[in-house]
Amino acid sequence: MSFAYLGAALRHVDLGVPAGEVVLITGASGCGKSTLALALAGLIPSRIHGELRGRVCFGERVLSGLPPHEASQLVGLVFQNPNLQLINQTVQSEVAFGPENLALPQPEIAARVDWCLEVTGMAALRHAATVTLSGGQKQRTAIAATLAMRPRVLVLDEPLSDLDPVGAQEVLGTLRRLASEGVPPSSSSSTGWTMSCRGRIGSC
Ligand SMILES: Nc1ncnc2c1ncn2[C@@H]1O[C@H](COP(=O)(O)OP(=O)(O)OP(=O)(O)O)[C@@H](O)[C@H]1O
Ligand SMILES: [Mg+2]
Repeated sequence: MSFAYLGAALRHVDLGVPAGEVVLITGASGCGKSTLALALAGLIPSRIHGELRGRVCFGERVLSGLPPHEASQLVGLVFQNPNLQLINQTVQSEVAFGPENLALPQPEIAARVDWCLEVTGMAALRHAATVTLSGGQKQRTAIAATLAMRPRVLVLDEPLSDLDPVGAQEVLGTLRRLASEGVPPSSSSSTGWTMSCRGRIGSC
């Protein structure tokens, strides 16, 4: 696929990611990493306007053009700046926000919130105000909130870029755990989400 805002940002990207693979995309500032992340999450062109050629698919499903609440259950995006992603007052309310908007039954929401807080190491801070969190804690809260939608694929846009070594280790620990354990099946769905640690590095 290719995408242009006013000028071209992505040219002839041909990327396939098999189930279970962890892929790292590297590249200089401005090369298009965030644009690619937005495209992978299906937010182009529904939320980010420009000229799209080609398409992004999850299996047979075309993501480009799906309503955001549907796309976010297939591919979850953790944005480059967690301050733009966190919109609720507390950690717990942030993580519950997505499932609540899907109008899921309360026990399902509670189970998702508990699991997401546990896997990201944020359970002890569930009642904390998000504005009081450190950078690593905010990033882990954003990951938890994204996981609460039970996405099949997780896309993280520079999850370590603004963190000090301690915060970076916290987030890496969460990602390692997710990569090795995966996400348990939702009680309202039979589809699980598992990842192995098979890895690949690409550049743009
Ligand atoms: N909303 C926008 N409107 C117009 N042009 C944009 C917009 N967002 C990004 N661009 C341009 O698209 C290109 C790719 O930007 P993008 O943010 O995807 O790069 P990046 O690799 O994520 O950079 P960084 O490492 O600095 O985060 C750049 O030339 C940028 O100026
Ligand atoms: Mg970027």
